[in-house]
Amino acid sequence: MMMENESNHHAPASLESIPYHVGIIMDGNGRWAQARGWPRLAGHQAGVDNIRRVLESSVRFGIKVLTIYAFSTENWHRPPEEVTGLMRLLGMTIKRQLNELHRNGVQIRHSGRLSGISPELQDQIRHALEVTRHNDRIILNVAFNYGGRAEILDAVRRIIADGISPDQLDEALFSQYLYTSDLPDPDLIIRTGGEWRLSNFLIWQAAYAEYYATPTYWPDFDEEELYKALCEYNVRERRFGRVLET
Ligand code: IPE
Ligand code: IPE
Ligand code: MG
Repeated sequence: MMMENESNHHAPASLESIPYHVGIIMDGNGRWAQARGWPRLAGHQAGVDNIRRVLESSVRFGIKVLTIYAFSTENWHRPPEEVTGLMRLLGMTIKRQLNELHRNGVQIRHSGRLSGISPELQDQIRHALEVTRHNDRIILNVAFNYGGRAEILDAVRRIIADGISPDQLDEALFSQYLYTSDLPDPDLIIRTGGEWRLSNFLIWQAAYAEYYATPTYWPDFDEEELYKALCEYNVRERRFGRVLET
């Protein structure tokens, strides 16, 4: 990755403001494959391959944190062979790409529940986090076995266990108990695949994120598409509930 031999790169300078933290709901893998008469898992494979491409583009644009929604707590309800295939894909991807990601300064994070994931895959995830923890070129935060409601419940449980009193608790302290405790909230949430919903993604953190949806299926979402999303972000006026002086 990070090869500079592709043409047609967009100069980051052409965008005035670059979102620090971008979240992507990588949807449409199944339909991408079905449109070609292929099994859904072929779409997931293509989707995984695309992560690397979009990660490279994100580095070029100057994005510092990329959170990708890879497997939701609701995705367990898919057919068992698809679930198994998705688990295997994550394991294979870590095996094949960890060294290169590490060499390229990518810090890998995980947001989600480790429990429920097989012990072998848990070990692989922990290893990937450990190896890359000092990298600072970009943070790739993988939301895997992630659900926003599960995250909030996990936070509440730990807050109670820590004996935090009601008057001590405020939004800042609550945020400290989320999986994303040391990351800033996302500025921009992109959803591919044509749906306009969050599907339980970063429901606390995205309270004031800008939202961008495109019909493009995730395996086809490339640098040009990311550029379009960033252009749209640039014309949004983020008010955070205030009245802006003109
Ligand atoms: C998103 O693609 C990837 C995961 C949810 C794991 P989908 O598998 O949801 O693709 P569609 O929405 O069925 O096309
Ligand atoms: C959201 O996609 C989850 C991921 C991209 C991992 P889904 O395909 O699971 O969402 P719904 O079912 O369309 O809401
Ligand atoms: Mg989907």
